[in-house]
Amino acid sequence: SSHVEHDLVNILFTEAQIQQRLGEMAAQITEDYAGRDLLVVGVLRGAVMVMADLARAMPVHLEMDWMAVSSYGSGTKSSGVVRILKDLDTDISGRDVLIVDEIIDTGLTLSWLVNNLSSRSPASVEIATLLRKPEALSMPVEPKYVGWDIPNEFVVGYGLDYRERYRNLRDIGTLAPHVYS
Ligand code: PRP
Ligand code: MG
Repeated sequence: SSHVEHDLVNILFTEAQIQQRLGEMAAQITEDYAGRDLLVVGVLRGAVMVMADLARAMPVHLEMDWMAVSSYGSGTKSSGVVRILKDLDTDISGRDVLIVDEIIDTGLTLSWLVNNLSSRSPASVEIATLLRKPEALSMPVEPKYVGWDIPNEFVVGYGLDYRERYRNLRDIGTLAPHVYS
């Protein structure tokens, strides 16, 4: 069918649940960074929705920048190769940096990003992620802010894609089998 929502078989988190949880995370982040000069870094492209909503839930001064990385340099994610497709426009030396992503799966992307940004002499580097799959984790990543831990299932929506589609869904869920066939 043409309606994108009809391809979801099971909704894990509704738009309202996502906004509620992001509000809680934003309140905690605002408290933790009180009086500091926060730079939030979104990881393109999946983090666009989380960045937009999380940043707007924080009623404080902050700066936003973006990075794009590819973890498919040698064909598969398991190759462990990450490269920068778009670097920061900001000098993060001495800055408090909060990396924002929508999911930690194997942990490859964010473990690599934390190492990369840490080498630029920031005051601090932390991670906020909406979702995490503990069973899939194969790299050391310790996000300071986690929305929810989820089972090791393929999920789409709210930035998460299947073959570049479904990022524009407001909810997060699993795809019906007919999508894959
Ligand atoms: C996805 C997701 C995370 C990353 C998590 O991004 O948005 O950034 O994978 O997986 P990992 O923990 O195994 O590294 P992807 O590289 O697919 O690109 P996208 O953000 O453009 O969808
Ligand atoms: Mg991503």
